[in-house]
Amino acid sequence: MKLFKYLRLYGKFIGCMVKKDTVTNDEYGKSYDQIANTYENWLGVMGKHVKPLIKTELFNRDSTVIDLACGTGFISHELLSKGYDGQLIGVDISEMMIEKCYHMKNDKVQFYQEDAVKYLEDMSDKGVLVDGIFLGWALPYLNQKRLIKAAYEVLKPGGYFITISNCKGTLTGVEKTILEVMANNIEKVAKPMEAKVRLPKNKEELGKWFEKRGFNSIHIGEGEEWVCYKSPEELYKWLKETGVLAGVDKVFYDVNQVEDSLIDGFKKSHKTSKGFQVNHKFVYGIFKK
Ligand SMILES: C[S@@+](CC[C@H](N)C(=O)[O-])C[C@H]1O[C@@H](n2cnc3c(N)ncnc32)[C@H](O)[C@@H]1O
Repeated sequence: MKLFKYLRLYGKFIGCMVKKDTVTNDEYGKSYDQIANTYENWLGVMGKHVKPLIKTELFNRDSTVIDLACGTGFISHELLSKGYDGQLIGVDISEMMIEKCYHMKNDKVQFYQEDAVKYLEDMSDKGVLVDGIFLGWALPYLNQKRLIKAAYEVLKPGGYFITISNCKGTLTGVEKTILEVMANNIEKVAKPMEAKVRLPKNKEELGKWFEKRGFNSIHIGEGEEWVCYKSPEELYKWLKETGVLAGVDKVFYDVNQVEDSLIDGFKKSHKTSKGFQVNHKFVYGIFKK
């Protein structure tokens, strides 16, 4: 019975993929619109892992740096508060997320609502070069092959690509729970997430992705952070409000109809002696052209 349910679900996925009906870039942007006011909860816990990567000493007042998929502007804000005084360009697909950055705008700091890869490819077509690109927590949303190729073309020789990303082994049990809820509620499933959502296995694999495209790995690393809540409802709230579940609201016709099932699933899959826990495993790297 269980096997039959999963076969039906995967059959539906294949049908959607053939029709190219998967969660789109714009829909991820719309998902982030919904959580723009609560995204700071993520930064409150995970921001400390980004700060050491914001190396303003690599740039000067003549530099141009892009904060790609800038969200609410955590990296831009850190750069500016650490004294970065060159040109800064923030790009994000979510209208509501990027709106949170507008207070930083001035002659040298601009923000654009656009697809990140398209933005770099357009820059490359125009022959515009920059000194640095930061990408925080957004690697899985982007077509990595196109991203790294375009970034290489857009960076000046000696320029830096600096990134931090979730990696394989993160959110243990979350995907399985969501799939189970999908299999049990197949009539409520609209479409799957895009197949491009691919996480690096570990820091070595992240390094290889960039080295294959001509970058030198200057510094790579990995880490893990756990969050723990007293109830599965609180754990679900964390996952939802921080954008961890971005796209899941587009997978179902009406995610509200399956919220109880999701919470029930997390109750089973994430219970530990300390409470309801989930891990955030991540990799980071500084790559030089
Ligand atoms: C987890 S947030 C990271 C925000 C920010 N970089 C940070 O470090 O806090 C992911 C961001 O990626 C953006 N995003 C997702 N797909 C995108 C795309 N195709 N182009 C540009 N931004 C995208 C989302 O809108 C969201 O703001």
